[in-house]
Amino acid sequence: MTNSETKATLSFSDGSPSLEMPIYKGSIGPDVIDIRKLYGSTGMFTYDPGFMSTAACNSSITYIDGDKGELLYRGYPIEQLAVNGGDFLETCYLLLNGELPNAAEKANFVSTVTRHTMVHEQMQFFFRGFRRDAHPMSVLVGTVGALASFYHDSLDINDERHREVSAIRLIAKMPTLVAMAYKYSIGQPFVYPRNDLSYSANFMHMMFSTPCEEYKVNEVLVRALDRILILHADHEQNASTSTVRLAGSSGANPFACIAAGIACLWGPAHGGANEAALSMLEEIGSVDNIPEFIAQVKDKNSGVKLMGFGHRVYKNYDPRAKLMRETCYEVLNELGLQDDPLFKLAMELERIALEDEYFVSRKLYPNVDFYSGIVQRALGIPTALFTGIFALARTVGWISQWKEMISDPEQKIGRPRQLFVGSPRRDVPAMDKR
Ligand code: CMC
Repeated sequence: MTNSETKATLSFSDGSPSLEMPIYKGSIGPDVIDIRKLYGSTGMFTYDPGFMSTAACNSSITYIDGDKGELLYRGYPIEQLAVNGGDFLETCYLLLNGELPNAAEKANFVSTVTRHTMVHEQMQFFFRGFRRDAHPMSVLVGTVGALASFYHDSLDINDERHREVSAIRLIAKMPTLVAMAYKYSIGQPFVYPRNDLSYSANFMHMMFSTPCEEYKVNEVLVRALDRILILHADHEQNASTSTVRLAGSSGANPFACIAAGIACLWGPAHGGANEAALSMLEEIGSVDNIPEFIAQVKDKNSGVKLMGFGHRVYKNYDPRAKLMRETCYEVLNELGLQDDPLFKLAMELERIALEDEYFVSRKLYPNVDFYSGIVQRALGIPTALFTGIFALARTVGWISQWKEMISDPEQKIGRPRQLFVGSPRRDVPAMDKR
């Protein structure tokens, strides 16, 4: 980073000498103050739990303007990519390589991903070690991490070709692993991938075909799944992506790093929110119960949150939520479920919340997870697998960010510091003195 024209001056009320720090400008978005010399010059750290004011890296992949409600992948608005931007693999190519593919590049990329969809046959034994009622996210943390023990030929993180092959393997094998986690949970045989199908159609085939009956591809539903994947593909330095970067900063292999990202995504404040939002709607049950539920949400002692609402960065409508609501209409119409009671309940809940002073004053709007559960449920995906679908989609974002980090000359092992508030040094007393 060398584009510093202006500087920030930090002065101290105790008379210590002031300190000048460079300011860098991004292509868009807030400037940053480079505080790397702060500790060396003053002996002090900055204190920023939750990274409220800290840019941990520079990146050229995804940009969010939270006030405007804008999301750009490599500069392209999410609305354009989701509506006219081709399929999910086109978005994958864009995130990985920085540009949209031309026709030949697209065909080559699709064929490369497609040729990596099978997982090593021995992976089946990993699945069989899990209880049938294991949460799919625990199965995914284990099995994605286990990929590192099968693909030794792509683990050298200093070899660009290895990094590329690992990225393709992860994007190609995630649908297979997610579908295997599902099949295992319901006691059905695993279904092998079919390379004549598109990425999303193949996933639905692996989910819903059985040896006795082939899944009939429905283009509206496939397109809806593709859109879910595009909308979840990347979201700059969120918790799971930062986890992937931090894990990768030590030189860990990409399969281990993505497994770490999956573990982080599992939490209800992050990827687990889609599952939690649908459970919440089911618990509310009817439009008549909304006022009582909203009263609970506003009561700070209740611990109840409106799941699928609020975001650290968006202080406006999450653009992904709008697209997801449209997709909800399309899917429910296709399936003849226009009167779906949960969709009606969700729209009414949204309407009431957006008029309520509590949500208005805190700038709390629906996020991507508010409607995605309803769409996924209509596609036949069980609630426990929702976060697994999110992990499938986000894998390309994680691996693109991981690749960017490895190639960044400013990259260092991530090592935050702390404000220590525990006991100062003391001596261990003998047992009879404790
Ligand atoms: N319901 C009720 N109150 C909320 C909610 C909510 N969903 N979200 C935030 N608030 C309140 C919060 O209590 C606080 O109030 P006060 O100022 O009176 O203390 C204020 O709004 C600011 O919230 P915060 O907790 O400081 O915000 P944050 O940036 O730390 O948290 C969040 C962001 C996403 C964790 C939070 O909004 C949340 O828990 N939402 C529900 C879970 C959810 O939908 N998560 C999915 C996020 S989008 C997909 C993804 O990125 O994975």
